[in-house]
Amino acid sequence: MDKNLTMDKLVNLCKNRGFVFQGSEIYGGFANTWDFGPVGVELKNNIKRAWWKKFVQEDPNTYGVDAAILMNPKVWEASGHVQSFSDPQMDCKSCKYRFRADNLIEEHSKNSVSAEKMTTKEMEDYIAEHKIKCPHCGNFNWTPIRQFKLMFETSRGTVEGEKDVVYLRPETCQGEYVNFLNVQRTMRAKVPFAIAQIGKSFRNEITPGNFLFRTVEFEQMELQMFCHPEKSMEFYKNYKDRAMKFVEELGLTKENLRYHDHEKLAHYAKAACDIQYNFPIGWQELNGIHHRGIWDLSRHGDFSGKNMEYLDPYTNEKFLPNVIEYSIGADRLMLAIMSEAYEEEKLENGETRVVMHFKPFLAPFKVAILPLQKNLGEKAKEVYNLLSKKFMCDYDEAGSIGKRYRRQDEIGTPFCVTIDFDTLEDNTVTVRDRDTMAQIRLPIDELADYVQKKIEY
Ligand code: GAP
Repeated sequence: MDKNLTMDKLVNLCKNRGFVFQGSEIYGGFANTWDFGPVGVELKNNIKRAWWKKFVQEDPNTYGVDAAILMNPKVWEASGHVQSFSDPQMDCKSCKYRFRADNLIEEHSKNSVSAEKMTTKEMEDYIAEHKIKCPHCGNFNWTPIRQFKLMFETSRGTVEGEKDVVYLRPETCQGEYVNFLNVQRTMRAKVPFAIAQIGKSFRNEITPGNFLFRTVEFEQMELQMFCHPEKSMEFYKNYKDRAMKFVEELGLTKENLRYHDHEKLAHYAKAACDIQYNFPIGWQELNGIHHRGIWDLSRHGDFSGKNMEYLDPYTNEKFLPNVIEYSIGADRLMLAIMSEAYEEEKLENGETRVVMHFKPFLAPFKVAILPLQKNLGEKAKEVYNLLSKKFMCDYDEAGSIGKRYRRQDEIGTPFCVTIDFDTLEDNTVTVRDRDTMAQIRLPIDELADYVQKKIEY
């Protein structure tokens, strides 16, 4: 990514243009939490809508759910999270900052060494041998590695002293596994079929940071495909392709995307892969596609006592379906989309304009209504009332028209509609295109169709 974009620039643009604010900002903030502002919430909703459309609405074999965040604690025993959802943590004894040992190694080696396959001892030895220093204070004064638990705990119970520990879910997919039988029965679904959902997840990350990239509270868009073991590799490859095609359709370019096949697999997994994106911080995981075998359904079967097998009505074969999981973070995808869309464009007059080239279907506002002068406000509001029934529109009558165009460019509004004195005479308006800055004249009653055609996904 060589477009002059740093994470700080993006954070500032987000803060000043209403995309994303620091969480609890008036109290000095709350580390690694972010609030989505009036512009950002539209962008994130449009990303989630695009995913749902592609993977649920347009796929007759995929069913959506919205499961509870708080689940029976046994779910997290069955999933293995209670026992082993942790990261290798090292503390710097000098400055007390915490780090993930695997991250220290990968950053020190500029990603030429993968800590994925290392044991705790191997990581400690590597850090000692290479004298990897604390990135915060520069000292070499580490504690041994300890396993840092990533699940947030809370408690449930009304009687003093009788509280049960419950967990904030660290991933949404368990809500899909535990509803396998419900969805199959109520929708008369035949394997292969998938269950999808979008929802919040929570992780007590050791080293969150890099803006929306790694936060403690985030949204996941996850899909579990339940299939016959013999068909499972075919579905795995199919979701690899579909996941890549999806992010390309959202505007991420091929040169900033690549597959990363995992070398180290969980003992139950048959294959796993990430799609990585070239963020302003470098190549990092954007999403995951995992072949999970029968692990999830067999574990939930064992822990709940319910038979999770599927009886094929055509062949009479009884089997535990394999799971292919496709998982992507909505916030992380939004960060990638914003990074890709950002441009500092040099204009002929020597000025620079910042433009967010979002695909029109993703743009927070589709149209901005701009009366050339305040006394054209009445007519402009008529146009706003007409278009806002169909699209998210912005209305702005303050400041010079040039400055108003620039503001819309920075939030990625594909069309600016200007109302001038001719509008009062002939009911036509000027429509300015964000990317080309070209302007055309259109009758007001053709505006909605014109915009609709340009924003379809
Ligand atoms: N159910 C599988 C699962 O949760 P994961 O690789 O841990 O797998 C899937 O997470 C995706 O969720 C990641 O590829 C990323 O897009 C997003 N994600 C994970 N942790 C995140 C965090 N702390 N902050 C933001 N997004 C995160």
